Amino acid sequence: KKIALVTGGYSGEAVISYKSAATIYNHLEKEKYQVYKIDISPSGWFYEDEKGIKTDVDKNDFTITLDGNKVKFDAVFIGMHGTPGEDGKLQGYFDMLGLPYTSCNAATSALTFNKRYSVAVAHMAGVPVAKSAHLFKNTNYSLDDILSHLKPPLFVKPNNGGSSIGMSKVNEPAQLQDALAKAFKEDDQVLVEQMIEGREFTVGVYKTGDSITVLPITEVITHIGQDFFDFEAKYGGKSTEVTPAEITSDWQDQLEATARRIYQVFNCRGVVRIDFIYNATENKPYMLEINTIPGQSDASVIPQQVRAKGIRLEDFYSKLLDEALR
Ligand code: DAL
Ligand code: MG
Repeated sequence: KKIALVTGGYSGEAVISYKSAATIYNHLEKEKYQVYKIDISPSGWFYEDEKGIKTDVDKNDFTITLDGNKVKFDAVFIGMHGTPGEDGKLQGYFDMLGLPYTSCNAATSALTFNKRYSVAVAHMAGVPVAKSAHLFKNTNYSLDDILSHLKPPLFVKPNNGGSSIGMSKVNEPAQLQDALAKAFKEDDQVLVEQMIEGREFTVGVYKTGDSITVLPITEVITHIGQDFFDFEAKYGGKSTEVTPAEITSDWQDQLEATARRIYQVFNCRGVVRIDFIYNATENKPYMLEINTIPGQSDASVIPQQVRAKGIRLEDFYSKLLDEALR
């Protein structure tokens, strides 16, 4: 089978996309798949061979022509975080072309990539979520108004983003203005969330056929001096991930059941990673967000969880492709 592994992207997460794609590339069985890495970046869409020779992708049918022969792909493995690989745009394009791909469909991708909308849908489905405010750039909002119903600490996030880029923690009301300005540099929508007290967990879920599997749960422990699980903590080694998490079977059951429910409610496909804060006082997990293209870099959680389950990454990526091709 000929597989296009698409990577890059137009957002600040492109650097992570290349790392994820490298892991995926290295662990796709070459006897089973002929893999073509396709870079989609602001400078163009192209395939680059081992010698560094670049070939443009024909956007009309997502093919490349090598030595005069047109290469058509059987499926696409999406190894791209941020837009256009995680927010439904490429998914919609591949749907139009009838090309199968490994991720959630276009509607689910677009919905979950919008943090505010995904939190609203999760809330409707009875999943606990943080109190929040959704702000639009160049509209009037009052800081006093926000602070009258949300009590710091707050998290201020670009609403459509990932890897904690543009995100800040606001401990004092006076920090809110700068935090908003920083987030609005990345996005024209910003989500302000009230912090939930508790331990942070992240849960990988995937589907094969009709069966949904929850991977071993990871606890994310951000190092002291590091305010939260930001970009540095995520990729600069300033956090510890414990997989499987050391938790009671009650917490385990609640996290698994909630993750499974979210996967179903959002009609997910492929592997997704759902982030939670477990509040011990209320004894329930709060959903933070759904990552439909979870990181696959060496520092990322999903490869750790897959290995903790005793599955080879080769077999895992094969499962995802077989599912897309089904
Ligand atoms: N957004 C990053 C890549 C993740 O979810 O792992
Ligand atoms: Mg994320």
